[in-house]
Amino acid sequence: MCGIIGYVGQEQAAPILLQGLFRMEYRGYDSAGVAVWSQEKGLQVEKTKGRIQVLSDLLHGGDDMEGTMGIGHTRWATHGEPSDINAHPHVSESGNIALVHNGIIENYMEIKEFLLHQGIHFSSDTDSEVVAQLLEYYYDKSHDMLDAVSRVIHRIQGSYGFGIICSDYPGSLIAARKDSPLILGYGDGFHFLASDVTAMIQYTRDIAYMDDGEIAVITANSIQVYNNMLEPVKKEHQHVVWDVSAAEKGGYPHFMFKEIMEQPEAFRKAVFPRIRDGRVMLEDLKLTTWQIRDFNKIDIIACGSSYHVGMVGKYNLERLLRRPVEVFLASEFRYCDPLVDKKTLVIVISQSGETLDTMAAMREAKRLGGRTLAIVNVMGSSIAREADDVLYTWAGPEIAVATTKAYSTQLAVLDLLGLYLADVLGTVEPEEYDAIVKEAHTIPEKMEAILAKTADIQYFASQYFNHDSVFFIGRNLDYAMGLEGSLKLKEISYIHSEAYASGELKHGTISLIEKGTLVVALGTYEPLFDKAMSNVVEVKARGAEVLALTTDNFREKMEKIADSVISVPCTHQIFQPSLGVVPLQLFAYYVALHRGCDIDKPRNLAKSVTVE
Ligand code: F6R
Repeated sequence: MCGIIGYVGQEQAAPILLQGLFRMEYRGYDSAGVAVWSQEKGLQVEKTKGRIQVLSDLLHGGDDMEGTMGIGHTRWATHGEPSDINAHPHVSESGNIALVHNGIIENYMEIKEFLLHQGIHFSSDTDSEVVAQLLEYYYDKSHDMLDAVSRVIHRIQGSYGFGIICSDYPGSLIAARKDSPLILGYGDGFHFLASDVTAMIQYTRDIAYMDDGEIAVITANSIQVYNNMLEPVKKEHQHVVWDVSAAEKGGYPHFMFKEIMEQPEAFRKAVFPRIRDGRVMLEDLKLTTWQIRDFNKIDIIACGSSYHVGMVGKYNLERLLRRPVEVFLASEFRYCDPLVDKKTLVIVISQSGETLDTMAAMREAKRLGGRTLAIVNVMGSSIAREADDVLYTWAGPEIAVATTKAYSTQLAVLDLLGLYLADVLGTVEPEEYDAIVKEAHTIPEKMEAILAKTADIQYFASQYFNHDSVFFIGRNLDYAMGLEGSLKLKEISYIHSEAYASGELKHGTISLIEKGTLVVALGTYEPLFDKAMSNVVEVKARGAEVLALTTDNFREKMEKIADSVISVPCTHQIFQPSLGVVPLQLFAYYVALHRGCDIDKPRNLAKSVTVE
């Protein structure tokens, strides 16, 4: 959510900043801007409403700005509508300081009042401009930028990643963070600052994650980091394992399509190294056998699609572990006075590892004594670093706003974790354990078989893309999977869509089913297939058009009653949603394509939601 980049080195900064912003556009895309500094021209700022392309055109690809140091920002509006004025960078009244900001300053109103009383004028509606002006206010007193930044961060409340240029400090960028990711990039004669590794991956894979409360002073030849007492801090460097091609479309029309197609490989990478000699090995876990046996319940916390993974996990883990598993929306968990204690295993699921609600919920669970285990994709992200244990999904960068391969790998890792815990607890029969492990090896090929038949799904999308209301219905694992199918469809195609537990339909929602309503009926959960059939009959009787998803062995039966049928290979029950979700992703993708939607950047959304 919002993207920050900063560069200082020997090259012209503006084209590098623009390139970095293009790579981060999925984080926010309603307005963008850059500030570049040079000895001759001083501080030059250009910002505009709209996509990065609009900014790039304004600057002729960056050629219009001179200077080897600068900061850039792509915005997802929170305070103040998307507009030229509200776009970042924000500049202090004297024009001496430029600042880009990710996050939200919660006490900005009170600070703005204070600064207005000092006679300072504001030009935007944003909380971020307040910080630029406050910074100048303190800087004018001490003429020491580091001191001024430190005073600012002690005065403000909320979350922030800042990139700052001050004209009095030629050749130095300043950064500060709290609850919003900032990464330092190291090079030979140049350095980077970014909220996302993808922004700088073309130039360096040598990085360090800033921690909360830290301030960094970045020049072409050095980076010095300080803690919130302004004491120097030594940063541990990390090496990014993937390269620039992973963050590019590689010939695919959309990132979403590329990422759907990458799922078999992503599953292999997430699962295969964790199975050796027929056993699930989770060496990355520090949890002891004793601790595992001591848990009396499991809470799963997440948002959006990651929450839907948790919903599938509830069914699978309760079945495998015979322990209660509750799934919480992170934004609700924080405020519901949760019943967590040291006997609770709290599984936190997040692709980005930066979702603020999830992070805050995890902190609350920790405060209450729960043991936290995070399933995260982004290495070194805040949730990964703060959790007691972390299992990475190793899916590589996910660029499309609508998640696909991250969902699949989260699910795969959660299933593996369930199996691992069940083995420790002795709640899974050895034969079943072996059957699940064996079946895990077949999933990538089965996914490939589904992906080989995209044309069928494309055809169904062409038949149904004009519907304006869709219901996904299913029971048990199919219901959990339907939640994700429905979210995928609505977020990228803007069709109103709901997921319902089939049995719940007749308690009210069935009144919405009328002639022509599209119902996507999910019948891949074998134990309840007959009930799924009955529900199809029920909605057909009320005039619905039914697109059914089932397994290959039930295809024929389903074809007798549904209007259209998609089938996926059979597998062990716990993996059935891993296969079933693939055609649902493809259906959403093709429907959105037919409707001419901006698939990778759906309206109002952004990847990595770092505000509450
Ligand atoms: C939907 C989607 C979102 C995310 C949610 C949580 O396609 O991507 O619903 O799943 O914002 O994000 P993470 O997993 O990064 O915490």
